[in-house]
Amino acid sequence: MKTYLKVVSTGIAIPDKVISNADLEKMVETSDDWIVTRTGIHERRISENGVSSGDLGAQAARMALDNAGLSAGDIDLIMVATASGDHLFPSTACIIQNKLGAKQATAFDISAACSGFLYCLTVAHSLLSTGSFRTALIIGAETLSKITDYSDRSTCVLFGDGAGAMIVTLGTDDKGLFASHLGSDGSYAPLLNLPAGGSRLPASLETVRQDLHYIKMNGNELFKVAVRSMEEAAIMTLSKAHVSTAQLDLLIPHQANIRIINSLVKRLGVEEKKVYVNIERYGNTSAASIPIAYHEARAQGLCDENSLILMVAFGGGITWGGVLIRG
Ligand code: UT7
Repeated sequence: MKTYLKVVSTGIAIPDKVISNADLEKMVETSDDWIVTRTGIHERRISENGVSSGDLGAQAARMALDNAGLSAGDIDLIMVATASGDHLFPSTACIIQNKLGAKQATAFDISAACSGFLYCLTVAHSLLSTGSFRTALIIGAETLSKITDYSDRSTCVLFGDGAGAMIVTLGTDDKGLFASHLGSDGSYAPLLNLPAGGSRLPASLETVRQDLHYIKMNGNELFKVAVRSMEEAAIMTLSKAHVSTAQLDLLIPHQANIRIINSLVKRLGVEEKKVYVNIERYGNTSAASIPIAYHEARAQGLCDENSLILMVAFGGGITWGGVLIRG
């Protein structure tokens, strides 16, 4: 039987506090011109002290529940994609489950950095297909500002905070469509990581002194594998569904860098007007970037239940993925 993911509703949480490129010019040696030309980012949102990824994720989830007219008791599966979870453990999904009061839901996190939301969608499709779960709440939530070094110009200009949530059920009629392609290559792990705080390098005064509790990135090398892996993810996903790029109504790429998006779009040959971009307002919100973009595209009427939508991402690990849905 053909099954697909039916999107019931979406929600987002965007912090109020804006950090502009002009603000960053006062913090590190950079310029608005460099940031805009090299990344496409004009500003990003930052959560207040004391606000966690779980807080933003729960806020986005509440909006999705309201938009669906559902209560927390209707959710039986919660999956959270995050690289900036509230704790090493318990999972941020469990934190959010408790905040929502979704007591009967099974809750767990997926660790795939910026590709995490697409990993979650793929796992949700499989789990819902078994019949063991009926209604899944999938969240991408990040407060990368808490693990960003605001004296490191090579990273602090890129990242932002936010969360996006999606409620999905399983469709089994002929209307829908679901295809996915995921990949990983751990040999690239050193290109983007958080060195300390795990069992490899437990947190200590020394790790803090050396700023090893902040994101470290080799952006230039990552850039090259990003374009390659996203292109592979897109082509493989489309070919599994026998869909051509010309048939797509909307492409939602992970919002990491406008130059990465432009290279991808050029390689795929997708019309620019069919590509959703919001990086100028939020920067790179990692696992939250695709659900935020999807929510905005829906709200702006750029897609509906008949649209063919391809979402494609890459991230630390490295990981990559594509998910094609109708709706
Ligand atoms: O979601 C996955 C997460 N990561 C990514 O997506 C990152 C992918 N990579 C990128 O987006 C780009 O590589 C960056 C935007 C991070 C950097 O752009 P780039 O064109 O690759 O620059 P670069 O690292 O090669 O650096 C070029 C120059 C260097 O100076 P020198 O050595 O040529 O004198 C850097 O020190 O730009 C300098 N630089 C900056 N200058 C002003 C690096 N960051 C800044 C900055 N402001 N913020």
